Amino acid sequence: MQNIEKNMSENGYFGDYGGKYVAEVLRAPLDELENAFKKAIKDSSFLNELNALRSEYIGRPTPLIYAKNITEKLGGAKIYIKLEGLANTGAHKINNAIAQALLAKKMGKKRIIAETGAGQHGVASAAAAAKLGLECVVYMGEVDVARQQPNVLTMEMYGAEVRAVNVGAKTLKDAINEAMRDWASSFKDTHYLIGSALGPAPFPDIVRTFQAIIGEEVKEQAKSLDIAALCACVGGGSNAIGFFSAFIDDENIRLIAAEAGGIGKNVGENAARMQGGAKEGIVHGYKSRFLLDGDGQVAETRSISAGLDYPGIGPQLADLGKKGRVEFYAISDKEALEALNLFAKNEGILFALESAHAGAIAIKLAREIEKEKAIIINMSGRGDKDIFITSPIFRPKEWENFLQNELKNLRQ
Ligand SMILES: Cc1ncc(COP(=O)(O)O)c(C=O)c1O
Repeated sequence: MQNIEKNMSENGYFGDYGGKYVAEVLRAPLDELENAFKKAIKDSSFLNELNALRSEYIGRPTPLIYAKNITEKLGGAKIYIKLEGLANTGAHKINNAIAQALLAKKMGKKRIIAETGAGQHGVASAAAAAKLGLECVVYMGEVDVARQQPNVLTMEMYGAEVRAVNVGAKTLKDAINEAMRDWASSFKDTHYLIGSALGPAPFPDIVRTFQAIIGEEVKEQAKSLDIAALCACVGGGSNAIGFFSAFIDDENIRLIAAEAGGIGKNVGENAARMQGGAKEGIVHGYKSRFLLDGDGQVAETRSISAGLDYPGIGPQLADLGKKGRVEFYAISDKEALEALNLFAKNEGILFALESAHAGAIAIKLAREIEKEKAIIINMSGRGDKDIFITSPIFRPKEWENFLQNELKNLRQ
């Protein structure tokens, strides 16, 4: 855990962003959490246990591999891929989930609650709770429960209870509100396990610290490389800030973030918070940039990748973007699908749709950068989880036949 102190917020703020905009009743649990976190990251027994879980449960370190075929095809900088998708459960989310679950256990909590949109963070929280013997309740909007049934099954397989939220738009933002409400009355025995580097302080510091292992490993693994750029996708921002944090002071290395450009530039057609359509605001307990409608309410967002389909962005990334240290690009659904295909066909690696946004920006950059230099992509997750989205796009007729057959078999 290098760079921990250096990257910490100042009283919960990163420049103008961050803070702790919560109801009075949540002040006490947030303070308790902050104290426990600050103690834990200096406690060798906590760190030893976390390191053991990282190697024996998650399967870290995840590999850094050279994508030779793509590099030769593009004819520019050398492309490397950090395979976070090989982490147990299939994505980087587990790095944070297992560490926060361990922290909760040290705090004497018996139960964790989590919010989830597409289900990835819910799956990671449920798995971490199963591993550490904690009760787990996942709040999920009713609309998301209906469209993400495979992930609901996975959470239940890990023993979690999935609670469908049927207020508001019945999606992620409503799930977050419900989880906060639960926490306000249950914090004595319950930890709220937030899934990205956002929310009220101290969550952005906690999540970055627990995801920083990605960049720390890359720093070791890439010692012999002349790195020009790191590329990551950004939903709330946890894989990106975890990947970048060890390199923020290396001014020669460009930090490149890919947001969901969706199907167009208008609000409602994308989830690009660092482009012109977004505004500063306070939502879900923190100040940052958000996609808001004309009334200042959280706007609908759109992306082919569920994990990037979020109206806000973590405060530290928003600040680094404002300062120009992190460059943000919007990658369209179409570009992400093209990148997905290119890496699958040339490298035999199936990116998650989220990670394919990072792949797409690396493809654009590679040709502009000298051949001796390296670009590293963080493949935050594997693409197996996306078959319900990619099948209807790439093989609509065959997929329909398959579903009809499955339905017939089910009814027999
Ligand atoms: C594979 C994958 N990558 C990226 C993300 C985006 O999250 P974050 O920006 O917190 O890394 C998600 C979110 O669910 C995800 O599942």
